Amino acid sequence: MTKKFGNLTALDHINLSIDDGEYVCILGQTGAGKTTLLRTIAGLLQPNEGEIYIEGKLVNSVPPEKRNAVYMFQQFALFPHMNVWQNVSFGPVIKNWNNDRIKNITFEILEMVRLSERQDAFPKELSGGMQQRVALARGIASGARILLLDEPLGALDARLRVDLRTQLRKLVKDQGLTTIHVTHDQEEGLMIADRVVVLRNGRIEQIGSPQEVYSKPQSIFVASFVGGANFIEGTVANLDDLSSFVAMRGSPHIRVSDRSKKIGEKVVIAVRLEDVSVETTGEDGANNFPGVVETVMFIGGSMEYKVRLENDVLISSRILLSETFRAFKTGERVIISFHPENCYVFSYPKIGLLKEIEAV
Ligand SMILES: Nc1ncnc2c1ncn2[C@@H]1O[C@H](COP(=O)(O)OP(=O)(O)OP(=O)(O)O)[C@@H](O)[C@H]1O
Ligand SMILES: [Mg+2]
Repeated sequence: MTKKFGNLTALDHINLSIDDGEYVCILGQTGAGKTTLLRTIAGLLQPNEGEIYIEGKLVNSVPPEKRNAVYMFQQFALFPHMNVWQNVSFGPVIKNWNNDRIKNITFEILEMVRLSERQDAFPKELSGGMQQRVALARGIASGARILLLDEPLGALDARLRVDLRTQLRKLVKDQGLTTIHVTHDQEEGLMIADRVVVLRNGRIEQIGSPQEVYSKPQSIFVASFVGGANFIEGTVANLDDLSSFVAMRGSPHIRVSDRSKKIGEKVVIAVRLEDVSVETTGEDGANNFPGVVETVMFIGGSMEYKVRLENDVLISSRILLSETFRAFKTGERVIISFHPENCYVFSYPKIGLLKEIEAV
C-alpha cells in the first residue's frame, strides 16, 4: 500500500505479510512512517493505493472497531475519569465477558505491568511511565487478536523498559496474539521480535529475523541503524580466488571475503565494532593496522576504543571485558585486527556515505 499526505509519500509501496501469532517489530528513525503504517492497518487512515487484509478478509472499507486490531497510541490516551482497574477492564466490560473472566484477565495483566497495587489510582495520580503501562495493559486486555503497539515502552525508564520487553512478548505469545510493535530502538526490536522490518523514508529497507538483519544487512543504512559499524571508504584494487582487496585512503589494502564487486569500483566496507580487536600484536589471517588509541570509553560490560590509523582513518572497537582483557590508554600504540569474513562490502552510495547513514 501507499499512503500520501499531500505531496509527501509517508508509505511507499509497502508490501508486508505477517503470520498469525507472529511478533513483528517495525524499526525506523523518526519520520520513517512507523505510526502511519500502524494507523493505516488499524483503519484510522485510508491508504491512497493498495489493499489491507486481516485474517484473509479485505478490510479497506471496514471501520477500525470491526478490524479485530487495536491501535495503542504513541501518545497514550487513558480515560481520566476512570481508575486503573476500570481503564484496563474497559475492553472486556464492553465486550460483555462474564465477571470472572474480566477479573482474571484484568488482574493478570495488571500484575504483568506491575500495577496491581495501584488499581484504584486515577491516571493523573500516576507517573508518565505508569500511565504508559496502564495504556499497554488496556490494549492487551481489549480482546483484539492483533495488537498494534506504537512505542509501547517509550516513556519508561531504561531498566523497566528492558524488563518489560520479555514479559510483553511472553504475555502476547501466551495469549496467541499477533503483534506489530513500532520502535526506534533497534536493540528492543532485535530482542523482542520474531521478525523485524526496517523502514526508511516510507520504504521497507529489509525484512528478516533479528539474526538475519543483524548478520546480513542488505544496505549501509541497515548496518548502521541495526547494530552500528565502522564504515571505511575504498576502491577495489585486486581480486584473487579467495578474496578481494580494497584500497582505503593512503593505499593500505583491506582483504575481504566478499568478491562481488569489480576492480576499480568505489565501495564502503562495514565492520562491526565487536569484530575489531585491539592488541599489541597482529592476528594471523586478519587485516592488521597499526594506530594510536584516541579515546577510551567504558560501557557497562565492555570497553570502546577509537583508534586513529596511520592513514588518519578512525576505527572503533568494542571489546567485552573478560579475565584476559588488557586495557589500553589514550595515546598508546596498538594494532587493530579484523577478519576478511567480517567485512560487509557495499557499493559507494550515490547520495554520499554520511547522508546514506543518516537517511536524510
Ligand atoms: N496527519 C498528517 N498530515 C501530514 N503529514 C503527516 C501526517 N502524519 C504523518 N505525517 C508525515 O508522514 C511522515 C511519517 O510520519 P510518522 O508519524 O508515520 O513517522 P514515525 O516513523 O512514526 O516517526 P516517530 O518515530 O517520530 O514517531 C512524516 O514526514 C510526517 O510528518
Ligand atoms: Mg511515530
